[in-house]
Amino acid sequence: MLSLPKEVTIIEVGPRDGLQNEKNFVPTEVKLQFIKKLSSAGIEEMELTSFVSPKWVPQMQDATEIVKSNPDILRKIVLAPNRKGVDRALETGCQAIAVFVGVSNSFNKRNINKSTRESLEELKPVIAELKKKNIFVRACISTAFYCPFEGKISESDTISLCNEFVTAGVDELSVADTIGMANPLESFSLFSALKEQLPNVLLNAHFHDTRKMALANIYAALQAGVNRFDTSAGGLGGCPFAPGATGNVATEDVVYMLERMGINTGIDLDKLVEAIDIVSPVLSRKIESGFYQLSKKKV
Ligand code: HMG
Ligand code: MG
Repeated sequence: MLSLPKEVTIIEVGPRDGLQNEKNFVPTEVKLQFIKKLSSAGIEEMELTSFVSPKWVPQMQDATEIVKSNPDILRKIVLAPNRKGVDRALETGCQAIAVFVGVSNSFNKRNINKSTRESLEELKPVIAELKKKNIFVRACISTAFYCPFEGKISESDTISLCNEFVTAGVDELSVADTIGMANPLESFSLFSALKEQLPNVLLNAHFHDTRKMALANIYAALQAGVNRFDTSAGGLGGCPFAPGATGNVATEDVVYMLERMGINTGIDLDKLVEAIDIVSPVLSRKIESGFYQLSKKKV
């Protein structure tokens, strides 16, 4: 008998991961409407934007204005790679901050211009300060399975980095298959080990869908006890510094699969489609998710 949760929490990453790699600047007003509609669809936790260098990621240059939009949801998450990003986030009153580090040094260097160890050492005291201020802290662990430069990442290296972040005090880990290369056995293995070894942290799986294995990986992670998934409306996304990375798994495809399995997500699929309709006209890419495509064929 399969052991599956009755409810799953979807953490929508579309406004951040979904848009950061979009080559045309998405007007701030469109981003704000997108966020508002996503929240009306029942999304309760969302990555709104990131406080990164506007030279490195110009799409996120309007982070301050985006945060001021203040949608009425439980957790408004912003990303910050370093102390400067965290300070900028705090100035705007953010209450949930995600730091991010790659298990792979080569990736981290290209993404944040520091080794994994340098990032970790910079972030440890920052995390302690955030916890003193009662800020919710999430750590996004990139290249948890494979790296575009180093290939296969050992499970023990990923677990040990996760462990260091938990010891540093984070509330949540978002463990990512950055370039969509993991297979369901690897997903089950890593997430089972993390559940067993780090039982007191919120554990999210973050799958990119480069090779169309994300739904299978989510199904495997569910069986490992994971009940929190990062997904992106329309399947948008990808890290600009991870060659070969394409979109995140589409929120609507995940919600559809889970609801059909009798697992409650609390998300309204029609409103999700309306949210994608807001952003899709200004994007350079077509929305390819199965659920969205079918929704457009309805008469
Ligand atoms: P750097 O050039 O090494 O920075 O970039 P620096 O410390 O040498 O400073 C250079 C200039 O940048 C200075 O300004 C700093 O003040 C400024 P200047 O004196 O020249 O005027 N600066 C900043 N400005 C705004 N916000 C900041 C910031 N920090 C320094 N936070 C840096 C280092 C980390 C800033 C850069 O590499 C960067 O912004 N990287 C972000 C890359 C990124 O956003 N990647 C995508 C997100 S991660 C992801 O998508 C993966 C994930 O989805 C999980 C998965 O799928 O794997 C989470
Ligand atoms: Mg990502």
